[in-house]
Amino acid sequence: MNTVSISKIYQNDTMLNDSITISGWVKSRRSSKSGFSFITVYDGSCFHAIQVIANNTLYNYYKEILRLTVGCSVLIKGDLILSIGRKQEYEIKATEIQVLGWVDNPDTYPISAKKHSLEYLREVAHLRGRTNLIGVIVRIRNYVFQLLHKFLNKKGYYWIPTPIITSLNTEGAGEMFNVSTLNMKNIPKNDNGSVDFKKDFFGKESFLTVSGQLNLESYACSLSKVYTFGPTFRAENSNTVRHLAEFWMLEIESSFLNLHEISKFSEEMLKYICKRVLKNCTTDIKFLKNYIDSDIINRLEKFVSLDFIRIKYTEAINILISSQNKFDKIIYSGIDLNAEHERFLVEKHFKRPVIITDYPKELKAFYMRLNDDKKTVSAMDLLVPGIGELIGGSQREERIEILDLRLLELGLKKEDYWWYRDLRRYGTVQHSGFGMGFERFIAYITGVSNIRDITPFPRTAKNSRF
Ligand code: 4AD
Ligand code: MG
Repeated sequence: MNTVSISKIYQNDTMLNDSITISGWVKSRRSSKSGFSFITVYDGSCFHAIQVIANNTLYNYYKEILRLTVGCSVLIKGDLILSIGRKQEYEIKATEIQVLGWVDNPDTYPISAKKHSLEYLREVAHLRGRTNLIGVIVRIRNYVFQLLHKFLNKKGYYWIPTPIITSLNTEGAGEMFNVSTLNMKNIPKNDNGSVDFKKDFFGKESFLTVSGQLNLESYACSLSKVYTFGPTFRAENSNTVRHLAEFWMLEIESSFLNLHEISKFSEEMLKYICKRVLKNCTTDIKFLKNYIDSDIINRLEKFVSLDFIRIKYTEAINILISSQNKFDKIIYSGIDLNAEHERFLVEKHFKRPVIITDYPKELKAFYMRLNDDKKTVSAMDLLVPGIGELIGGSQREERIEILDLRLLELGLKKEDYWWYRDLRRYGTVQHSGFGMGFERFIAYITGVSNIRDITPFPRTAKNSRF
C-alpha cells in the first residue's frame, strides 16, 4: 500500500493539493447533523495528527463512518488542503475511507480519549504506545540513540558488541541472573551438595551480564577508543523509580585517558545530545512542557550551558554533614551515598549536575584504580537533578600487582580473571571508562520521573508481563 506518513506531510508543502493516501488510527470523530464528519487520524510518525473531512457522499458514510470510534484503524484517500480552522495546518478532504479494523467494544477500549494516569497506562503497556506521551518518549529515545552513535563515531570510537552471557561478575556484587539449561526440577549436584555446573550448557556457572566493561577493556587495549551499547541485567530487588532489572547501558572505554579526561568527555557527550534534542525535537518538547515539566526548556538550556560541578567524595560528605537537612540515613565518612544524598547535592545545594570522584575503595568495584593515598579509588559518579546517578565510571587499575591485591581483598579468585589480568601483563596502559543508564538519561531529558514509563516493556521484580 503506497501511503504517506503524516510526518512527511508536515515536513514539506510539496504534497499540498495532491491526492494522497494515509493510514492510521482514529483519535476522535465529530459528526454534524448537516451530513459531514471530522475525523482526527494519527499514525505515530510524528506528534501531529491530521484532520480528515468526510462527507455523506462517501459510499459508506452512514453504514461505517458514523460508527467509527477511537482506536479504529483506517485507510484514507483524499486531497491534502490547507486548513481554514486555526488549530491544524493541514486537512484531508476524503474521497474514500476504508475501515481496516474495528474496535470491538468502544466502552472497553483501554486507551479511550480521556486522560489516563501513567500507573494505569503501565497496566496496558501493549497499547500505551498509542498515547501522545509514549509517542513523544519513543521519538526522543530513538533520536538520542542515533545521536549517541553519531557522536561516538565522530569522536573515533568503535562499537564493540560485548557478550550478554558471561561467567564473570563485573561489578562484584551478587545481583546476577543465572543462565542455565539444567533441569530446575532435578539439579545435578556434586558430592558436597553444590550444583554441578560442569553438566550445564557452558560447563560453568553463567549469568546475564551486569556490564560489558571487562570485555570492552580488552578492546580498548587493542583499538584505543571503543564503546558498547546494549541490554544489561541486574537482579536487584530495588523497587524504585530509577531501577529496572533489564536496562540499556552505554559504556565507553578509552585507552590513554585519565579520570579527569574521561569525565570531561562524559560531560561533552551529554551536552551534545541535550543541545540537539532542544533544537530538533521542538514539538515533542512543547508537549512535555505542557504536560510533564513546565521548566523543561530552561532546565535543558542550563544543563547545556553551565559547567558541571566537580567535587571529591570527602567534600560531598562535608557538605551533607554541614547542611541542616534531615536525611533518613545519618551521614558519616565512608557511607555509600544513596538517592536522597545525591539528590540533595544536585537539587538543593549545587542546583546543577555534579561529578563526585575519589570514593573510598570499599564502596567501589575491584577494577577501579587505587589512588596514592591507598584509601580511595579514581572513581566518578555523575549525578543529575531529578534522577541522581546517571553515570558511573573510573580510571581502571592498570598495575597487575595492585589489581591482584584488590581481587584478594574482595575475595575474588584471580584465576577467574586470567584474561583480564593478561591485559595488564602485555603492554598495559592507562585507561578509563564509564557507563550511562540509557533509560535514566531519557527520564532526565523528558522529565518523566519513573523509568518504567521510559522503557516500552519494563522488567522489574515480579513483573515480566507483556
Ligand atoms: O554504576 P554502574 O553499576 O557501573 C557499571 O556497571 C560500570 N561497569 C560502568 C562502566 O564503567 N563501564 O552502572 C552504570 C549506570 C548507572 O550510573 C545508572 O545510570 C545505570 O547504569 N544503572 C541502572 N539503570 C537502570 N536500572 C538499574 N538497575 C541500573 N543500575 C545501573
Ligand atoms: Mg554506580
